[in-house]
Amino acid sequence: MTYKAVLFDAYGTILDVDSAAATLASSGRFPALKDRWPELAALWRARQLNYSWLRSLSGDYILFWQITCDALDYALEALGLEDAEMREALLDLYRRLDAYEEVSEVLDAIDSAGLPAAILSNGNHQMLADAFTHAGLIDRFNAMISVEDVGIYKPSAEIYQLGCNSYDAAPGEILFASSNGWDAAAAAHFGYHSLWANRASMPLERLAGTPHHIGSDLRALIPLLSSS
Ligand code: LAC
Repeated sequence: MTYKAVLFDAYGTILDVDSAAATLASSGRFPALKDRWPELAALWRARQLNYSWLRSLSGDYILFWQITCDALDYALEALGLEDAEMREALLDLYRRLDAYEEVSEVLDAIDSAGLPAAILSNGNHQMLADAFTHAGLIDRFNAMISVEDVGIYKPSAEIYQLGCNSYDAAPGEILFASSNGWDAAAAAHFGYHSLWANRASMPLERLAGTPHHIGSDLRALIPLLSSS
């Protein structure tokens, strides 16, 4: 298979979405977070994704940053953790999430294979620019492709089509990696060659489309490049 580009999901795949709550909890600034940050991080993420799907279905697109704020507000209230200062601190950390440690090595391998690497994300342009600048990775990507240009969220086929348009590529000429099982499945269903970096050892999603490859992190992409 000859690929024209390697596309990555951003949140959960390159950027550790749990790192905002984990970092704030370990700072000790908010004792209430000490034992409850995993629960908060999980509910925040779950609501963020639910809201993206629900808003896509009802045709009520708003920026992913706003969805991220709404999801955090819901999660804080549901868990009885409302605190304006903590909310601001969590959002501030979400603007500069940690990148997973293997990302740089994987991008080096893509460079060596002579392929462009790009992001294809629900994140709006500003939040992607902020996060990837803070992570020191902005210059390592050829493009930040955002659903903002279409106004609907993954897994709409319109989003995966954006990747094809950017590289004048057929779906099968795109190598795609995501740590979100549903995203990797939908990308395969669209026709991308898809890797699921299954960081949390979750079961296969029962959805249309099956990822072509499954690994425990993004390093699983490296051997796929030699077939390009
Ligand atoms: C993204 C979400 C799905 O970056 O993680 O598109």
